[in-house]
Amino acid sequence: MIDPATVQKIKDTADIVDVVSDYVHLVRRGANYMGLCPFHNERTPSFSVNKSRNFCYCFSCHKGGSPINFIMEKEGVSYHEALLHLAKKYGIEVKERELTNEEIEQQTRREGMLVANEWAKNYFTSNLLQKEEGQNVGLSYLYGRHVTQEAIKAFALGYAIDRFSDYTDEAIKKGFSLDILKATGLTGTSQNGRNYDRFRGRIIFPVINTAGKVVAFGGRDLKGDSAKYINSPESEVYSKSRELYGIFQAKGDIVKENKVYLVEGYLDVIGMWQSGIRNVVASSGTALTDGQISLIHRFTDNVTLIYDGDSAGIKASLRGIDMLLAHNLNVKAVPLPEGDDPDSLAAKLTPQQLKDYLKENEVDIIRFKINVLLDDARNDPQKRWLVVRSIVESIANISDKIKRDIYIQECSALLDVKESSLSSEVAKARWKIVEQEKTKRRSEELQKDFSKENVNPGETISSQLRQIDEKTLSSPLYPLERELIDNCLKYGFVDIFESEGSESETVQVSVIEYIAEELEIDNISFTVPDHIKIFNELLQLLPQFRRDLKENDNVIAGLIEQKRKEGYETIGALNLSVNEIKREENSLEDRLSSFAENERERFAKNYILDKFGSHEDDVIRNNTNRALVEKHQLSSLFKKNKSQENSKEKIVSLVISSLNILKNGIIDIQLKMLMEELKNLDHSNEDKERELHSRISEIISMRSRMAKDIGDRILCPTNLKTNNRNAANK
Ligand code: CTP
Ligand code: MN
Repeated sequence: MIDPATVQKIKDTADIVDVVSDYVHLVRRGANYMGLCPFHNERTPSFSVNKSRNFCYCFSCHKGGSPINFIMEKEGVSYHEALLHLAKKYGIEVKERELTNEEIEQQTRREGMLVANEWAKNYFTSNLLQKEEGQNVGLSYLYGRHVTQEAIKAFALGYAIDRFSDYTDEAIKKGFSLDILKATGLTGTSQNGRNYDRFRGRIIFPVINTAGKVVAFGGRDLKGDSAKYINSPESEVYSKSRELYGIFQAKGDIVKENKVYLVEGYLDVIGMWQSGIRNVVASSGTALTDGQISLIHRFTDNVTLIYDGDSAGIKASLRGIDMLLAHNLNVKAVPLPEGDDPDSLAAKLTPQQLKDYLKENEVDIIRFKINVLLDDARNDPQKRWLVVRSIVESIANISDKIKRDIYIQECSALLDVKESSLSSEVAKARWKIVEQEKTKRRSEELQKDFSKENVNPGETISSQLRQIDEKTLSSPLYPLERELIDNCLKYGFVDIFESEGSESETVQVSVIEYIAEELEIDNISFTVPDHIKIFNELLQLLPQFRRDLKENDNVIAGLIEQKRKEGYETIGALNLSVNEIKREENSLEDRLSSFAENERERFAKNYILDKFGSHEDDVIRNNTNRALVEKHQLSSLFKKNKSQENSKEKIVSLVISSLNILKNGIIDIQLKMLMEELKNLDHSNEDKERELHSRISEIISMRSRMAKDIGDRILCPTNLKTNNRNAANK
């Protein structure tokens, strides 16, 4: 448990731009920031970060929310973990006690695994640096390979003691459950039931994700074992295809240099890093995956592949380049001298020489591919044809037409193929890719629509997994109630009417109060438990809002006073006639009062997001973020300086219509039930029949009245106050 004051401090400190920047390369756009969405694969940025609202949103996949929401979604962690994550990021001290067995059990499995991995990392490091075996076997090996102390520290290298279950015994003694240790893959169980360490007598390379969490380990053999490297298995915290070794250490430099070097191995990353090239990551010996490319693309558009100087490796990795091109990355390659890998080359050259080598030998990837493939196919027409096909395929993956044309021109010379034929081949292949993409997207959309029926789109994965009461969702009122609740979350504290108070002073009525009153008059309440909870929570927050608003009013008043003074001074200095001065002064006052109105409304709109957007209650937080990230809403907020009257009118009509639509829905249901009853009625029961008939006609006329009302109010929302109050007094 984290104490509330610390939680508040974390919420207050977490800055959305800063938080998102750990994952996304953001570019300033006016008052906001834009970047490539970290939640889906895209080529043009649709992820927007609104600094003043401390809020982010993807216009394309509709994910986003407060800093806490963002972390929960991005890291797939719990609310609690997200808080800890942010606390760590901002150096906010959270008192964490030594865990008791009971607490360890209480923790989620994932959380437990990450804690276990973090501990394991430290344990392996202390083996390497402090234990005799670690120093004699591990450290001396690393020194022998020119690994420096600085790199050992930066990459948290370690050593696994060469005993059957050294690590496992120690971890169990520390209080970690065997279940968790096995889940991380660090511990295995033999056929005769003994628990053993996965890594024994190996150098340990922790695999750290962008958020700084240890998700897996690699271990290099030192004894001439059959497997030079073994790695952690896939697990709840480790998906190999979505991680890159070194990303945590490199991400800052990747952004700074706007470029990443991609190498194959753990020691290649470390070797380059030691030579001062720090924007480097490794795919760890496997073909690049879509997930890894997306990870790269969050930080830069420019990728340079460094290939070992043996041709088998080069050909294998050429397969990954179409995928890189399809992601709209600028891809280059640096071939290394025969027999060298980045690590060995870095050891041979001075840092400056290495830098020069990389710079001088960098070539465009398609040109590189042509050279490699043609080398093999010089005088064989059949093979040459295959080379052309393969190059056509690569070029077709580029989405930018101009870029394609440049390549076509250049490759036609290199391949000795007519430009026009190359061009038409590329066009054909391109068309095929686009069609495939369309089909894929369509089926994804269908899938999404289908799953939308069952879960709220804005919710985090973990809460989606939460069982949702089927009855609730199948209730025809559910979407209607939700629409109204969403409007409460969006506009609940905006004042929409003035009403007369008991001592004939005017009292402001906010959206939420208006709705509460209306529901009470018609004796309606929300039926979905989540909606009831949110609505009550909003009503409870209202008094505090009023107090805070008052305080904010004072701030605004101060601002206005200052602006007024400045305004009058400016007017005074203008040398105007008396009439002109009057006119200027009137216009100044108009501007000042509309400024005050705007500020008040903005405060009201932001208030709920501020209080509920990071709320500890899943229902409240998720619904707030969902309601507030909705496309229409946010995009209209971005259009600044709309006349405030206009926006208030719109709010009023939205609120009223969602309220009436709900009422209408309730009436519909009642009507259906009555009709059903009538149908099944025993016809001898005339009284009952008459009663049903009259109730039905009453409801029908009520419904048509309401339908008219809905129409009227949407057309002319400002009239509704009188309408409504009159109706209320009937
Ligand atoms: N790798 C692996 N499992 C293996 C072999 C390799 O996971 N059995 C991965 C490791 O991430 C390794 C990378 O592939 O770092 C490249 O392999 P290789 O070139 O064979 O090793 P190096 O990194 O060069 O390691 P070293 O210099 O220690 O031989
Ligand atoms: Mn090597």
